Amino acid sequence: MVLELAIDVIAAKNRDALTEQLLGATRGVWDIFTVYLGDQLGLYQALSEIEPATAGELAAATGTHERYVREWLEQQTVAGILDCENSTAEAADRRFALPAGHAEVLVERDNLNYLAPLAQITAGAVFPIHTLLGAFRNGGGVPYEDYGADLREGQAGMNRNLFLQQLGTEYLPAIPDLDARLRAEPPARVADIGCGVGWSSIGIANAYPMVLVDGFDLDEASVVDAQPNVREARLTDRVRIEWRDAGDPTLAGRYDLVTAFECIHDMSDPVSVLRTMRRLTAPGGSVLVMDERVSERFRGEGNDVEWFMYGFSVLHCLPVGMADQPSVGTGTVMRPSTLQDYALEAGFREVELLPLANYFFNFYRLTV
Ligand SMILES: C[S@@+](CC[C@H](N)C(=O)[O-])C[C@H]1O[C@@H](n2cnc3c(N)ncnc32)[C@H](O)[C@@H]1O
Repeated sequence: MVLELAIDVIAAKNRDALTEQLLGATRGVWDIFTVYLGDQLGLYQALSEIEPATAGELAAATGTHERYVREWLEQQTVAGILDCENSTAEAADRRFALPAGHAEVLVERDNLNYLAPLAQITAGAVFPIHTLLGAFRNGGGVPYEDYGADLREGQAGMNRNLFLQQLGTEYLPAIPDLDARLRAEPPARVADIGCGVGWSSIGIANAYPMVLVDGFDLDEASVVDAQPNVREARLTDRVRIEWRDAGDPTLAGRYDLVTAFECIHDMSDPVSVLRTMRRLTAPGGSVLVMDERVSERFRGEGNDVEWFMYGFSVLHCLPVGMADQPSVGTGTVMRPSTLQDYALEAGFREVELLPLANYFFNFYRLTV
């Protein structure tokens, strides 16, 4: 009887905590999707230029409808994302602005704190949700292209500043022999596997003025998007992005550095891609993998990074990896030991977890 009572008390406590968690989560969902609207419609950008602005002024500046914009401005204020400087005024006269510091997160594309792409990648991750329901039932997958431009552009935006601003100035220089090779004659050749829209290839070429980079990606739309990025970076003579399956055994070349940034866990057959990476590595060359910073094993309760990554795994990475069958079905939460198993099976001798500090990512060096 006492035991039953205690169980009831625990159940009530758990129930209330879950209710609170879900209500709190809804707030986050509304924040993310209304940030998506503000970003895609150029509302934050315009506001940062003309603030403080009324709904009418912002609508006129962005070619949007005043009534929708007014609702959005009020919602953003209640959510703590914008400030209203005269909240007691008539609705049409209220003036809104970005609080100090918020433009860094929402508007400034080159700022390391820029996070608007998080809203875009989240919108992309739920885009094919009904196809995902089917995949859960029939065991198939959801192809990367079904997630559309928001996922692709959001992914690119999330890693862009790391690749353009940190990879070549912080992470690669922290590996002295590799850094030295990338600076030396004859010019080093780099193969960037799963390069997406090319920011990592561009980041490496920018940081090392002699290297020649070949990027390969299986997603045609990403390869198309990469071309203007390479042109605008004025790197067409040193960076080439090709539409290729990195598991293709006919992929040829001899590279001093072979990289795979945040993509091994998405692959249906990571071992064959790692095998290609090993084959492409010149004698004395290096292989670098960047993937999610998850812990060694499932513990039942995760840290913040795993909580974040598991969400993407269920909604996006696992279904993408299951789209081509047979698939090993890795998912976003690829444990260090999982990568090690894949690498050893692909013929690498060793996998070293490098002591590079990044909140989201682990860097691994694979020994040929
Ligand atoms: C999560 S995205 C990462 C893109 C980019 N590296 C970045 O960090 O932003 C994973 C990429 O891996 C690519 N990919 C998956 N399997 C591949 C394969 N077998 N060969 C080449 N690219 C592949 C996808 O098309 C996608 O662009």
